[in-house]
Amino acid sequence: MTDPGALMKWWSSLYSDHANLSNGITFLHLAGLIVGGGAAVTTDRQILKAWRAGGDRRRTVLDDVSAVHVFVVGGLILTIVTGALMMLADWDTFSRSKLFWIKMAGVGVLIVNGAVLGWAERLARQTSGSRGWPVLATVSTISLFFWLTVLGLGTWLKSVA
Ligand code: HEM
Repeated sequence: MTDPGALMKWWSSLYSDHANLSNGITFLHLAGLIVGGGAAVTTDRQILKAWRAGGDRRRTVLDDVSAVHVFVVGGLILTIVTGALMMLADWDTFSRSKLFWIKMAGVGVLIVNGAVLGWAERLARQTSGSRGWPVLATVSTISLFFWLTVLGLGTWLKSVA
């Protein structure tokens, strides 16, 4: 089965005919969101608190930021892979949905924002905290906003499907 059209048709009927498969993929989509988004939102709040408090708290938070990175990236990858599987199961519907593409733009912002956060964390470390913190506070605010926005858009996608 090398024809992409036939492969999509096969996947679409497999997905719609097997409730355990579609429920399992939805579960993994939400699991990635809880692990990745949960870790990201908790760290964003810590960053904003440390930004206001200053001093030693900032150094501790920088260690937390790098420790949590693997959970955020892992969760996001799981969400993207399972999201792609759901999208391909009903490509005709989702590809025509404005809501879906707005959600994808939101996911894109989260990815770019995460990369900027990693860069700002390294900058703050290299300059002993004298630089990087304004960027960290800004990207954390953006991250909080976009995780919740993408969550909302994802929930509303159910009415498109
Ligand atoms: C930050 C990342 C994401 C979040 C927070 C998120 C959140 C959600 C939520 C809450 C739902 C509703 C699940 C349900 O109860 O049925 C959903 C559905 C969906 N998501 Fe995501 N999602 C994310 C990324 C993605 C990506 C990257 C894709 C595509 C590549 C995607 C594609 C879909 C599709 C197609 C559905 C609709 C499933 C259906 O109702 O048939 N999502 N998402």
